[in-house]
Amino acid sequence: MGCIYAATGSRESDRAEGRGRCPALSWALIRLRAMDVLIHLFVGLHIIGIAALLGGFLTQMKAMGQGTARFVPGMLHGAFTMLATGVILVGLNEADGHHVNTVKIGVKLALLIVILGLVYVKRDEEKVEKGAFALVGALTMVNVFIAVLWT
Ligand code: HEM
Repeated sequence: MGCIYAATGSRESDRAEGRGRCPALSWALIRLRAMDVLIHLFVGLHIIGIAALLGGFLTQMKAMGQGTARFVPGMLHGAFTMLATGVILVGLNEADGHHVNTVKIGVKLALLIVILGLVYVKRDEEKVEKGAFALVGALTMVNVFIAVLWT
């Protein structure tokens, strides 16, 4: 019953009846807050993954034009980070009761699998053809815009 008083904000009546803050309500709020922090933490890691993948691409645009670009290790690590943090984000959002747009996530996942496949298979090549290198950069950028524009 104390929860009802606390939830309606009737502090005077709480005090009058000797009740403190509702423990169940407080724990529910703390849990929600902790989950929010965790989700934002993984969005941060997801963005660090983009930085590694896209950063690796952008630093080699000149080399790409000359056909001498290569998939540096950071790009592979970035792509794996995107996959791991993306899957964890889906799980956390589901667990927190947020609606996850499965079509959007499916498209992002499909594009990332192409990116990962290319970067993984060609990770040891000294020179990667312009087309394959450009495709990885383009698909990463497409995924960024899918993430922010598809609501
Ligand atoms: C190159 C690949 C990817 C890029 C560039 C990318 C980009 C982004 C960006 C910029 C955000 C933050 C903006 C926002 O909250 O809407 C985000 C959030 C998110 N991403 Fe990704 N992502 C990629 C792959 C993935 C994959 C493979 C998954 C899932 C398997 C995934 C799942 C999510 C989820 C669940 C969020 C939280 C927000 C939401 O519901 O959209 N992402 N992504």
